[in-house]
Amino acid sequence: MTSAAAWRAAIVCAVLAIGGTGGAARAAPDGAAIALHGAGGTPACATCHGAQGQGNPAIGAPRLAGDGATYLRWQLNDFASGHRVNPIMQPIARSLSPAERAAVAAFFAGLPALTPRPAKPGANPLGARLAARGRWALGLPGCTQCHGPGGIGVGASFPHLAGLTAPYIAAQLNAFRQHQRPAGPLGLMGRVAGKLSPADIAAVSAYFAAAGGSADGGSAR
Ligand code: HEC
Ligand code: HEC
Repeated sequence: MTSAAAWRAAIVCAVLAIGGTGGAARAAPDGAAIALHGAGGTPACATCHGAQGQGNPAIGAPRLAGDGATYLRWQLNDFASGHRVNPIMQPIARSLSPAERAAVAAFFAGLPALTPRPAKPGANPLGARLAARGRWALGLPGCTQCHGPGGIGVGASFPHLAGLTAPYIAAQLNAFRQHQRPAGPLGLMGRVAGKLSPADIAAVSAYFAAAGGSADGGSAR
């Protein structure tokens, strides 16, 4: 091959490679760009949930970082369909395509999860008991059996409870009870929430809000 022919071949390869990447970029939306800069009419998620997905308690925006991609995608789909009711998130979720929802869910899932911070023993005995052991007389397992030690979340489908605020946790438990939010895989959370009294909800919400967790330890999963 002459050197001119070699160059032509190299240029053709480069052009094909650029064309290929462009096609792939159109097919797969950029979750990080949506999260940090928004897309079309969709506001940047970071304005409310923080650039690290750490959440903003002052405006009721929960921590997203480290939750499973499947869990986050389901929530966005449920907001979009109106099965999970929230006046702020419903229009935002609806403004994204299903592929964009999946991409932005994967972005937040990839940010560091919390490491558990032990709650002070004795400070909230009812909350601590429900978290660890549940109430077997009612067939209620301890929250940490599904949500992980210290409530840091497990795998793709069980979200963290540590790092959420007490008002947010209580509102979600009430939403499960009142069918304002789908009961989750196998109806698990509907059954759990249905067995909690208002006093239980207050205690267990305060317990996980205090369990907190620390973000500096990187991913615990
Ligand atoms: C204007 C503020 C705001 C913006 C912007 C925003 N959110 Fe939210 N988001 C909220 C609030 C408030 C909630 C709590 C809803 C509730 O109480 O059910 C929430 C809840 C969520 C949840 C449910 C979390 C959980 O643990 O179940 C997900 C997922 C979510 N937002 C993703 C996003 C994504 C992705 C974007 C960007 C495309 C975004 N949000 C933009 C305010 C916002
Ligand atoms: C048998 C397993 C199981 C047990 C036990 C359980 N949960 Fe859950 N929980 C889930 C699943 C699964 C989800 C996700 C639901 C969904 O996909 O919407 C969830 C979601 C939640 C959420 C929503 C989190 C968010 O970010 O919006 C809260 C709050 C919650 N659980 C609190 C509790 C509390 C408090 C207890 C103990 C009293 C408990 N859970 C026990 C399985 C369980």
